[in-house]
Amino acid sequence: MAEFRLPVNSRINKNGKVHVAPVGSKNVRSFRIYRFDPNSGETPRIDTYNIDMDACGPMVLDALIKIKNEIDPSLSFRRSCREGICGSCAMNIDGTNTLACTKACADVKAEVRIYPLPHMAVIKDLVPDLTQFYAQYASVKPWLQSSTTPPPDRERLQSPEDQAKIDGPSACILCACCSTSCPSYWWNGDRYLGPAALLAAYRWIVDSRDEAIVERLNDLKDPFKLYRCHTIMNCTEACPKDLNPAKAIAEIKKMMVESQH
Ligand code: SF4
Ligand code: SF4
Ligand code: FES
Repeated sequence: MAEFRLPVNSRINKNGKVHVAPVGSKNVRSFRIYRFDPNSGETPRIDTYNIDMDACGPMVLDALIKIKNEIDPSLSFRRSCREGICGSCAMNIDGTNTLACTKACADVKAEVRIYPLPHMAVIKDLVPDLTQFYAQYASVKPWLQSSTTPPPDRERLQSPEDQAKIDGPSACILCACCSTSCPSYWWNGDRYLGPAALLAAYRWIVDSRDEAIVERLNDLKDPFKLYRCHTIMNCTEACPKDLNPAKAIAEIKKMMVESQH
């Protein structure tokens, strides 16, 4: 799997701190973690934490929580569910965007290198600024749009076949692993919506209950919003939920062409 670039602002200060493991530890692993506080005036650095894995849970998030609780409370990262559902612990581990809570330390050889998601401004340490990412998600209006009145006594129904079309894209947890692995998003993230937002757009375009397909497609008719995808496929490779944003984007492009005939 391709390695991704360091985050912006990533001139690394060589004077990172090294935290040694407790005396007597027999199963020590090193975690090299990106540290940056934009308010400090200091350049980023890599701190090394040596941990006794016999006293640590198996996942990378377990190690981060252990570091924060027992070694260095100044380390910042996001997490919530600890089971791959909330999407908040997305980061770059061993060169790959993934979820810290579902990434086993045992799956990483040698030292575990941990950086924030690439090419995003860093708020602190492993916490990227996702303001624009969420605004782009909101811009595709990720909710049902319908002008017809719903049935008075039940929900708007759809067939199992129609439901199957949205099962996959509905499972997106908005972790941003895909968009921050996409070279087009790195270079044009202010105007290209990126794979996560486009997957959300697709999810509503193909929903049989939605009645705004024309408006949704028209909204994406733009040289940047959709067409900056060059089918590089990093997004699909990076998705920790095994979703396929690249295919969804290709489907939207196909619908664009078909809608013009
Ligand atoms: S397929 Fe499109 S969205 Fe996915 S990484 Fe490539 S350019 Fe980005
Ligand atoms: S498509 Fe996958 S990688 Fe992208 S935001 Fe959704 S869950 Fe994360
Ligand atoms: S903590 Fe929720 S996905 Fe990792």
